[in-house]
Amino acid sequence: MSNKLIEKIEQLKQDRNAVILAHNYQPAEIQDLADFCGDSLGLSIKAAETDAGTIIFCGVQFMAETAAILSPEKTVLLPDKSAGCPLADMITAEQLSELKQQYPDALVVCYVNSSAEVKAESDYCCTSANAVEVVESLPADRKIIFVPDQHLGRFVAERVARNLVLWPGYCHVHVVITEDDIKNAKAKYPDAIVMAHPECTEPVKELSHQLLSTGQMLKFADKSTAKRFIVATETGMLHPLEKQNPHAEFIAAGDRAICPNMKKITVEKVLWALEDMQYKITVPQDIRVKARKALDRMVEILPR
Ligand code: 13P
Ligand code: SF4
Repeated sequence: MSNKLIEKIEQLKQDRNAVILAHNYQPAEIQDLADFCGDSLGLSIKAAETDAGTIIFCGVQFMAETAAILSPEKTVLLPDKSAGCPLADMITAEQLSELKQQYPDALVVCYVNSSAEVKAESDYCCTSANAVEVVESLPADRKIIFVPDQHLGRFVAERVARNLVLWPGYCHVHVVITEDDIKNAKAKYPDAIVMAHPECTEPVKELSHQLLSTGQMLKFADKSTAKRFIVATETGMLHPLEKQNPHAEFIAAGDRAICPNMKKITVEKVLWALEDMQYKITVPQDIRVKARKALDRMVEILPR
């Protein structure tokens, strides 16, 4: 990576009072450039807490939108405006509203991988790091609608031992990791611990030792005495794991698990975002206020 580019970015960051946040799936050079890397939950908290007036969000649209909902006074920039999340697009606010009519007494929990409009139609938001705690905190006699990821929903339902009304959404990156990928990796590395993201399919999760959000994978690997891990999530995750644990080995369960949207962010685009102050992510006030309630309820329940 050119030093000149980095110097320019550093200078502009100061001029603009900007901070760079990057998700754990971002390209390695973006993670190395960022002021803070983390999972969806960690990044939301960081975005809300920072004193910087401008946030360069290296991730996908729903993440930048969440930052804009939590910090409307800050300028939130997404370096590539086409970096979306197909899972988040699998349910619209209209579809959720129709589902709510079928279950008028239900509480709605939406995964943070959803649009601001869907969050506004929901009672609670959650991330993969706190979905179990959020659902566990809800009254036992209320029906719960969980959208949009069916695989995270099933993981939660099993952990809290209750039925949830699920939406059939899925992450196209995680579902390409197959049962055979895990079986083959385990046969090759029998001593390895398998860490899988809850967005993986049920057969993959059944073969895994630990089901963790990306931030939880880092915490787990840090504390573990194991020397080898099979990682069933987007392959960008290997970078922070390797950086944090230079003496352990991390093996991607599936080489095909690459999120094309996460990889749209480049160092040049980060520079252009700072130069041109684009692309600004904003959420209309009426949607923002309602979506904020669902996010605030999550933060209240949350063990941080
Ligand atoms: P985490 O919240 O675990 O970082 O996951 C975000 C995501 O997009 C998973 O595909
Ligand atoms: Fe969305 Fe899946 Fe990419 Fe995560 S990995 S941002 S859920 S498409």
